[in-house]
Amino acid sequence: MDYSIETHPLDKLESRCLIAGIYQNQQFGNTALTLDAQTRGIIGKVIKRGDIQGKNGETLLLNYLPECPIERVLLVGMGEKGKVTRKLYRKALTAAIKTVRESKLTSVTSSLHDIDVEDADLAWKTRQTIEVFNDGIYQYSHTKNCDENKVQLNEVKILAGSESQTAIETGLTQGLAIAQAMELTKRLADLPGNICTPSYLAEQAGELAEKFERLECEILEESHLEALGMGAFLAVSRGSRQPAKLITLNYRGGDEQHKPIVLVGKGLTFDAGGISLKPGAGMDEMKYDMCGGATVLGVLQAVAQMNLPLNVIGLIPSSENLPDGNANKPGDILTSMAGKTIEVLNTDAEGRLILCDTLTYAKKFDPEVVIDMATLTGACIVSLGRVPSGLLGNDDALCEDLNKASEIACDSVWRLPLWEEYQEQLKSNFADLANIGGPDAGTITAACFLSRFTEDYRWAHLDIAGTAWRTGQNKGATGRPVPLLTQYLLNRAHA
Ligand code: BES
Ligand code: MN
Ligand code: ZN
Repeated sequence: MDYSIETHPLDKLESRCLIAGIYQNQQFGNTALTLDAQTRGIIGKVIKRGDIQGKNGETLLLNYLPECPIERVLLVGMGEKGKVTRKLYRKALTAAIKTVRESKLTSVTSSLHDIDVEDADLAWKTRQTIEVFNDGIYQYSHTKNCDENKVQLNEVKILAGSESQTAIETGLTQGLAIAQAMELTKRLADLPGNICTPSYLAEQAGELAEKFERLECEILEESHLEALGMGAFLAVSRGSRQPAKLITLNYRGGDEQHKPIVLVGKGLTFDAGGISLKPGAGMDEMKYDMCGGATVLGVLQAVAQMNLPLNVIGLIPSSENLPDGNANKPGDILTSMAGKTIEVLNTDAEGRLILCDTLTYAKKFDPEVVIDMATLTGACIVSLGRVPSGLLGNDDALCEDLNKASEIACDSVWRLPLWEEYQEQLKSNFADLANIGGPDAGTITAACFLSRFTEDYRWAHLDIAGTAWRTGQNKGATGRPVPLLTQYLLNRAHA
């Protein structure tokens, strides 16, 4: 997809399709108003007929404008004037790109950033346009030859007046970085487990590092993990024929003495549950258990692409979790890299096992903060549904920073408590802690488990089980929480 800025004024604009917003009760947005004057009132006449009201998410494609170099106009309903929130704005963008896709348009020019949005500037609106549009035209193709709904769009232009160009350029740069990062995350996540193995993820990380001067990649093999004493991580990969990998991506964009921000992503390329086997129905979705890792890859790509003046390290523990004669078993006791012993009461609680050793390993980078993201618990979907990611952590300021970033990015989070009382549930008769905490508060006890390995630094955990992919008919990765983390890092870079 080609994204660019269009600087021709409306009266000199040539376009296959101009996207223009109208408000509820058939009120014009600025561009629609100018266009109406230019076309002797055509837009107004169509609106008056009642074909579109301007309600949020309505669209109407006008296929012909007489004597006008603008071939088509796509009118998009924004909702009530003066009451367009960030969320409503994104909803309108989603509706617009859906109509563009269905109408098989090849090139569009958007003027939707002339719409007033609460608490949003021009850069934000431009950026969201690119994020939402790019998301709307995403198409998985790696293993699918024929697709009758093939996307035809190959060009998106953003209409800019001369005074607004700088803000729009900022929006374009950030929007492109985030959109392309989400695309990378989705492509990796949508790949099946037989293609996207730990080795495949490691290769992808290596390729990413080759593209960017400031990005370096290191892969630790099982022999290294053993030397480091990562008994919890290695226990998970015992049942798999695919070798586990610990991927490190190191981005150096800040001063050498600046402590790095460390991002950790669960990279379980397939989670069958191990000996505590999962039920068969819907098990295919456990190829998505590497979405945390795929997010880390996406975010590091975005950071490198934008050349942010920060030091960021991505750590991705990657493995499969399968039943096997050699697999770890309920009752087994593991020794983690931190020296704490762990009783495995359920081999399906494997994410925390690969994460805990990685979180211990993270200490060697003397991190400013550590943020991990993981499709960690089904319980998170039970408690929060598929709207926000679960947020837990040992540092209020860090959680608040993530909260703020999530609001701007429209990639929501909801904080859950990590109180001392819950730690009780992890007691084991035979080890320092058990790997499950019983049926109550599963998302919290999973985070409690991780918290026992993050005592030496400021840390936050994102449970993305409900947000990283969609289930059902429209099954597919969402690219979340790439927007949230990229926003957090943008905020840090500008602080
Ligand atoms: N990857 C799963 C979590 C998951 C389940 C994500 C369903 C999305 C949908 C994780 O490894 C897991 O199996 N967790 C168990 C923990 C339990 C055994 C304490 C779960 O949630 O059932
Ligand atoms: Mn599991
Ligand atoms: Zn899992």
